[in-house]
Amino acid sequence: MLTADELYAKLKPIRVGAPMCEFTFERCESLLPVIGRIQELKREKNAVILAHNYVAPEILYGVADHTGDSYGLSKIAMQSDADIIVFAAVRFMAETAKILSPEKTVLQPNPDPGCTLADGITAGDVERLRREFPDHTFVCYINTTAEVKALCDVCVTSSNVYGIVERIENDKIYFLPDRLMGQNVVNHLKEKGVEKEIRIYDGTCYVHEEYQPENVDTVRKRFPGVEVLVHPECSPGVVGKADYVGSTSGMLDRVRQSDGDSFFLLTECGLTGILQSEYPEKQFVGTCTMCRYMKANSLQHILRVLENPQPADVVEFPEDVRLKAQRCIDRMFEYAARQAPGQRDAGPN
Ligand code: 13P
Ligand code: SF4
Repeated sequence: MLTADELYAKLKPIRVGAPMCEFTFERCESLLPVIGRIQELKREKNAVILAHNYVAPEILYGVADHTGDSYGLSKIAMQSDADIIVFAAVRFMAETAKILSPEKTVLQPNPDPGCTLADGITAGDVERLRREFPDHTFVCYINTTAEVKALCDVCVTSSNVYGIVERIENDKIYFLPDRLMGQNVVNHLKEKGVEKEIRIYDGTCYVHEEYQPENVDTVRKRFPGVEVLVHPECSPGVVGKADYVGSTSGMLDRVRQSDGDSFFLLTECGLTGILQSEYPEKQFVGTCTMCRYMKANSLQHILRVLENPQPADVVEFPEDVRLKAQRCIDRMFEYAARQAPGQRDAGPN
């Protein structure tokens, strides 16, 4: 059983800038009853909690069984033998778990589970585009709804997008919905001398589109020797200045493997929080940009869906949609399996 001392030891180094992300011993102590009740319910109901790297630290360190990026969590969801998966993230990630594990009950505890990428394109949009570009292979980022995946050919995540698009046999690709990630893919292929005609949809992540190349210049001047890590949802100008480009788990691993002592992570602030907890002695230059959707998850909501799930908390969609979406994700796993070890991240660096 987790103690207040243990929880405080994990959470006290986290200082990403916002008061909601600072933890006193008293705050940790006050969280223990709800954490204890969630742990009990998990055992009683054979449930596991999967939490994305961006959710609040008290979820990651208090109740999560597995944490990770979209790719890692989708694999864990598939391999888990739990009856119930509580997915603390955003809706498209919980949907991915259900697509891959139809026999499990997937509960979605977030009262505001949107994502500007997933919400920026509908199945109707994809149907129209497929009519317009009948010869293109449709590649969708995992940040899409089940209905959109069901209409696409291959799914990708931030941890495999460059390698998969490069390997797709067709020279004509339609990439959706992330315009900035699509431009990064185009630049990556150009650098590698791979010729493809890539059309790109016009969606963006409202968190990552804000970062500017000048932010990197300013930080490099102020903190000489700083390592700059960037998520591929950032603009090409920002990606071009990075030392490393990759998924959220890729960025965490890169810091874990680095001898450096100063880092600038251009992504949601949850990642900086995790690293501050793990490496209190290292310097993390913060951007503190929150994803309001990810941060809408809370211990109270997790407790509520475990205690008393409502129909709206249960992730469901028609079986024909699920089967088609599964085929799209399975193709991702097939391409990813063909990817050389060590090539599992977006970045060319
Ligand atoms: P990852 O798959 O890299 O964790 O990214 C998901 C996401 O939504 C980033 O904004
Ligand atoms: Fe979606 Fe951006 Fe939030 Fe990731 S950070 S879940 S892409 S809105």
